Amino acid sequence: MITNKLKNYVLPCAIALFSFTSVHAQNKATAATEGKINQIIKKMTLAEKIAMLHGNALFSSEGVKRLGIPELTCDDGPLGVREEVLRFDWKSAKWTTDSATFFPNGSAIAATWNPALANKFGVAMGEEANARKKIVMLAPAFNICRMPLCGRTYEYYSEDPFLNAQLAIQSVKGIQSQHVAACVKHFAVNNQETQRNSINAVVDQRALREIYLPAFKASIQQGGAYTIMSAYNKVNGYWCSENDFLLNKILKQEWGFKGAVMSDWGGTHTSVNAAKAGLDIEMGSSGPYDEWYFANPLLAAVKAGKVSENVINDKVHRILWVMFHTSMSANHPAGKMNTPAHSKTVYDIASESIVLLKNEKHLLPLNTTSIKSIAVIGDNATHKFSLGGFGAGVKARYEVTALAGLKSRLGNSVDIQFAQGYKPDYQTTYTDQQKEDANKPNQALIDQAVATAKGTDAAILFVGSNRDYESEGQDRKSLILPFGEQQLINAVTAVNPNTIVVVIGGAPYDLNEIKKANHTIVFSWFNGSEGGNALADVLIGKVNPSGKLPFTFPASLGDSPAFALNTYPGENGTANYKEGILVGYRWFDTKKIDPLYCFGYGLSYTDFAYSGFSTNKKVYNKSEEITARLKLKNIGKYAGKETVQLYISKVNSAVLKPEKELKAFKKIWVEAGKEAVVSMALNVKDLAYYNDKTDKWVVEPGQYKIMAGSSSRDIRAVGSINVQ
Ligand code: BGC
Repeated sequence: MITNKLKNYVLPCAIALFSFTSVHAQNKATAATEGKINQIIKKMTLAEKIAMLHGNALFSSEGVKRLGIPELTCDDGPLGVREEVLRFDWKSAKWTTDSATFFPNGSAIAATWNPALANKFGVAMGEEANARKKIVMLAPAFNICRMPLCGRTYEYYSEDPFLNAQLAIQSVKGIQSQHVAACVKHFAVNNQETQRNSINAVVDQRALREIYLPAFKASIQQGGAYTIMSAYNKVNGYWCSENDFLLNKILKQEWGFKGAVMSDWGGTHTSVNAAKAGLDIEMGSSGPYDEWYFANPLLAAVKAGKVSENVINDKVHRILWVMFHTSMSANHPAGKMNTPAHSKTVYDIASESIVLLKNEKHLLPLNTTSIKSIAVIGDNATHKFSLGGFGAGVKARYEVTALAGLKSRLGNSVDIQFAQGYKPDYQTTYTDQQKEDANKPNQALIDQAVATAKGTDAAILFVGSNRDYESEGQDRKSLILPFGEQQLINAVTAVNPNTIVVVIGGAPYDLNEIKKANHTIVFSWFNGSEGGNALADVLIGKVNPSGKLPFTFPASLGDSPAFALNTYPGENGTANYKEGILVGYRWFDTKKIDPLYCFGYGLSYTDFAYSGFSTNKKVYNKSEEITARLKLKNIGKYAGKETVQLYISKVNSAVLKPEKELKAFKKIWVEAGKEAVVSMALNVKDLAYYNDKTDKWVVEPGQYKIMAGSSSRDIRAVGSINVQ
């Protein structure tokens, strides 16, 4: 099935009001709804029930026409409602009405550190889903960014479970505010694409609970997600689609999930085991649908007494419960596509996601009175990022490229010349040799770029990757900048002292050479329909950058835990997560390894001074809330936003604890010269670690260090509290 899908993808083809309160609590199913669901189930034949439990086309499962139950329709995905494909084939349906808003990718949303924007993203995508009559959006995707080469890092949010959870909750709430079900994915421990259909991720209970599950738990319990997608891989020996521990024990029993679990496409392996272990709907790519595990074979298993009809009824109940909150809900919104408000949401996310990595000469923001000519160099200046990467592609109604953004902002006053600089000749289907060849520099294009850059007041180099290079179904081979970009950067930098490097990508890259040799570096993302406008506004200073890295950029691949411990891609089909809880900065800090750029890093055009750090108390009991306060003064010339990050560490812990862990953050706007009070709250019980011997969350009594920082390595204030 997967091969089939791959083949077809590579064919030439291409606020509402922000509200933290609109929780669709799982337990709100009224008695009336329960009654209706039970009545429907009573009227259904076994065959009708089974028909609801598996796909009847690529993106739908059966309803019951005679009882007025519609099909359950779904669609990808994280970057917007994808192009309509044929009912039984991944090929484009060639609609003319399916152009949609292209939203910034997951790591871009994460780089905003702004849950309110994640909510706005969800609302806008929910509205577009309704306009396209999709009931389940296969989004958001937020597997932990464990390993920097993972091909889907750009779809996911972060290496940190807390940041991950805050964004997941709000994305889900936003989508579901439109009576569209979010399908949070991929449950669970799906952190690499290499061997994703077979790999067995062996992970200890503590890492599972502290790192890999929190965002799923939060999206269910706080976000109220109606559906969840089981991952392709195995966890601790069992396929995620038939993992009794994950699906029945944790998700349904412990977390109280009332919705439906659907498999990833083609990720079901058995009828009886999967049915008993908690999978509710089997989805996949190609028919004959009647022969799928959850079709005739499951019907036969029920008739043979191998699976009880109660198990089937429970699954149907869950699907109907989802429907009563979505397609069959009262006042179901009509939806809308491509509205100015959606574009504004994209612009706002993009503007807040861009990370200023280095600005040593204060070349940024561009001085548009003295700069009269700019050489814009690099394919990424004109590249569009909406399509590619399998399921996460969007047929964008429009996409403003970086060059178009700069021209629209500066075109009348500045002479802008473009040179391509490199050719991104890369396809997921290429052989290793072809992929290697794609990274060779193109001297003719470099020469042209050098000629264009020579003598201009500034050169802006747009490098990085694209949606073919970072993709579902494959991991990157290394962290190096592809397509001979480093040679291009060196050549252009040598002839133009005012060279600004803008790296566009969705994951960490090796920027060692640039960090050493270049004075001005910006990191941007696959930033959606308005990406070019937002980027231009950051470069000219209309927007003061406020993005912070949602994951560590290692100085060398070998420094990151999966590589340091030689656990990627695994041996004999098993990836042993030996680093346990030490994922991302938890590893780098604890092991005292300097990263290239640390988690939470990002500069601004202004500076912020932290002072007056305090907590409301010094000694807490385990049921109390800690409030930390500080004063944040904008001591520079530009108004801007700062994300204050609150980290905690246990002093003299009896068990292994990371050097520090993010427990709260707040993004706040401060006018130049002004001071703001920042207040952050967390519960003492959030300091707990998971004791895998007793299977309990434990708050260790004693002293904790509480740290406020501008990044995980730029701690500006330290306090101490005691827990009794
Ligand atoms: C991906 C899912 C996606 C599904 C449907 C799978 O290959 O892993 O994330 O939702 O395809 O396109």
